[in-house]
Amino acid sequence: MTAAIRFEQVSKSFAGKEVVNDLNLTINQGELFVLVGNSGSGKTTSIKMINRLVDPTAGRVYVNEQLTTAYDIQKLRWQIGYVLQQIALFPNMTVAKNIGLIPEIQGKAKSAGWDQTKKIKDLLQEVNLDPASYYNRYPSELSGGEQQRIGILRAIAAKPPIVLMDEPFSALDPLSRTNLQDLVLKLHQEMNNTIVFVTHDMNEALKLADRIGIMQNGNLIQVAEPQEILRNPANQFVHEFFRGSLGNDIYQTSLHEASLFIRLSKHSGQNVKVTGTISIDAKLAKLIDLLSSAEEVAVQDEKGEILGYANRQWVMKYLSELNRNH
Ligand SMILES: Nc1ncnc2c1ncn2[C@@H]1O[C@H](COP(=O)(O)OP(=O)(O)O)[C@@H](O)[C@H]1O
Ligand SMILES: [Mg+2]
Repeated sequence: MTAAIRFEQVSKSFAGKEVVNDLNLTINQGELFVLVGNSGSGKTTSIKMINRLVDPTAGRVYVNEQLTTAYDIQKLRWQIGYVLQQIALFPNMTVAKNIGLIPEIQGKAKSAGWDQTKKIKDLLQEVNLDPASYYNRYPSELSGGEQQRIGILRAIAAKPPIVLMDEPFSALDPLSRTNLQDLVLKLHQEMNNTIVFVTHDMNEALKLADRIGIMQNGNLIQVAEPQEILRNPANQFVHEFFRGSLGNDIYQTSLHEASLFIRLSKHSGQNVKVTGTISIDAKLAKLIDLLSSAEEVAVQDEKGEILGYANRQWVMKYLSELNRNH
């Protein structure tokens, strides 16, 4: 696998205060990597060192195996789309102008075989905004969610191989947020680019990530696939952070309800130890709690009869099913 982005012993201090401490991380090409952590933990500073909005105090950052400092900074940034929470669309430009801006600046818009108008219309179609109605609108004529869609299109219009997204949906209502998360997953699948997505919301991270990196006080304390974080939180902080997200409604579903979507498994076989039992009426949050120390749990009805077995894969399947249907 090729590294799209590599941090090597990277630290950053502001006025003598270290905010990123010895960051070592490789993000693979085509990966959707989610950096999650509390506010102030150093997420934004870390990703700004990729496009050199911030330069490290110590260490090296590589993009496509080349030191970021060895790039012409303009060329570096052209390879990297950037989406922020507060998308700054140019208020005096139409939607189409805003989307087409970067290919325009790069001179791509006039290159052979590049039909700028068609590209923009296709992109609008891609995010379910009817070109006939949206192409000539101004940003003030869009809802927050629509503006954010345009911001994403602007970031990807020139097809950059890397896209950085810094809490892009945290100011949106839950429905727009869910829709845009689905959009990110879809675009990622279609474009096969590398995405680094920053959030403080563990649910968002679990939904989107190929791998999750968890930051605390400037330290990257765990990098793992969502399932692995569920199974094996690196420390108490990660455990609590994840449990914080368990307060979310979806974890209050009963196993009974969840099992209507994803059938409970048969016992996975002799290699897997069943530890403990749980009632079919219990909540998903309780099951996840048990699964932090058990591989598989037997699910019982009120008479104590075993209805099936639940493991982490089952939980993940249910969560991703929910995300699909939302
Ligand atoms: N330009 C700056 N000057 C001084 N301190 C900064 C600057 N940028 C960020 N910080 C500090 O660095 C720490 C990490 O910030 P940040 O990377 O924005 O965290 P996060 O994105 O996880 O909320 C915070 O304490 C923040 O106040
Ligand atoms: Mg931030």
